[in-house]
Amino acid sequence: MKLALFVAAAAASFGQVQALMEKHCARCHEAAKSYSLKQDRDGWQATMNKMVGLGMKAPDAELAEIFEYLVKNYPADTVAKLKVNECRAIELESTLGLKRSVAAAVIAYREKNGPFKSLADLKKVPGVDPAKLEEKKDRLSF
Ligand code: HEC
Repeated sequence: MKLALFVAAAAASFGQVQALMEKHCARCHEAAKSYSLKQDRDGWQATMNKMVGLGMKAPDAELAEIFEYLVKNYPADTVAKLKVNECRAIELESTLGLKRSVAAAVIAYREKNGPFKSLADLKKVPGVDPAKLEEKKDRLSF
């Protein structure tokens, strides 16, 4: 086990990992499918577990190398936050799933009262659903 960890830690070169993926992953599907996702560490862990569940067999150390490679090179997309005080109505609709009339109300409120300082401010706009905003608050910046 110690040896396996050491091998995994000795960060294989790009070419070596490619070869490992050819050997282990491309057995069942074309190589491109193996990196068709962009996700965080937990996501890649789940994918690896899923492939093992589907019958993938390979030495742990080699799977660990592939796993670390995928985590590093295919991370989750970081989505830009919506600037609540600069955005247009259409962006409120698409990012927050607001109805057109509610998005328009947010813009009107902003024009009348000045910039929103926080989520609490935004929740004051007539017609917005506070629970929905709470759910999406990580997508917003003030
Ligand atoms: C034993 C066969 C097998 C092996 C080996 C295998 N896969 Fe897969 N893989 C599958 C199957 C089957 C699917 C399609 C699963 C589905 O449609 O639910 C899949 C789908 C995927 C997907 C698409 C997303 C998904 O969850 O459906 C990714 C990413 C992936 N594999 C990555 C890998 C990686 C990385 C390796 C090597 C470390 C690998 N696979 C090895 C069988 C395998």
